[in-house]
Amino acid sequence: MIFDSHAHYDDQVFDSDREEVLASLQKNGVGTVVNVGASLEGTKRTVELTKKYSFLYGAAGVHPSEVGELDEERFLWLRKQCMQEKIVAVGETGLDYYWDKEHHELQKKWFIRQLRLAKELHLPVIIHSREAAADTMEILKQEYSIQTKAVIHCYSYALEMARIYVEMGYYLGIGGVITFKNAKKLKEVVQEIPLSHLLLETDCPYLSPEPYRGARNDSRNLSYVVEAVAKLKGCSIEEVIQTTEENARKFYGIEQEVCI
Ligand code: NI
Repeated sequence: MIFDSHAHYDDQVFDSDREEVLASLQKNGVGTVVNVGASLEGTKRTVELTKKYSFLYGAAGVHPSEVGELDEERFLWLRKQCMQEKIVAVGETGLDYYWDKEHHELQKKWFIRQLRLAKELHLPVIIHSREAAADTMEILKQEYSIQTKAVIHCYSYALEMARIYVEMGYYLGIGGVITFKNAKKLKEVVQEIPLSHLLLETDCPYLSPEPYRGARNDSRNLSYVVEAVAKLKGCSIEEVIQTTEENARKFYGIEQEVCI
């Protein structure tokens, strides 16, 4: 079944119908979801969601645009959340020079701290990098160790850089953007990078694929992403679903749920 490796169901835009949406996923072919914390509040809500839904796992982290809320005490709290039973990754963390909401030095500081936290706790990392390709790569190379597992979420850079990440053993997160007509660069990346290094993600409520571009997104729309990836790679829909699910399970260390 489809594995959504990156969602934000804690977002308030789901307040009116979160239960309904989550309850409808399995009959629409989505088997597992990793909900990603993007702030302290988002992480708290993520932990709550993991306790409520058996198929939902979580990541604990603070997005680069929100790092102004971090201090040592709050970072300790974040660390504790990483040890909760169904928290399977640190993130999302990284650098965002597009929105540029926090000073670059502050973004770098908390990015490095979250990378080291992941390393210490033997957890994979979910990386957000927007218009910050060079600095992201520099920090990742500096902090790299052979045990580090990372996904570059919503991959938006060129093929050349994708190849370097794949050599480092990293995964690339592919979502709704792949269905956009103008996503030439990303289409090239998906064509050239082996399926064994790709994860499917919605980043919902953001980044709805065509034909729903601009509307609120949810994991059911991943079928459009699967279709686009299968077409680009010239393989079957089933192969895309199965391989990306295996990748995500391996990456997050989540075994197949036992169906009763
Ligand atoms: Ni996200």
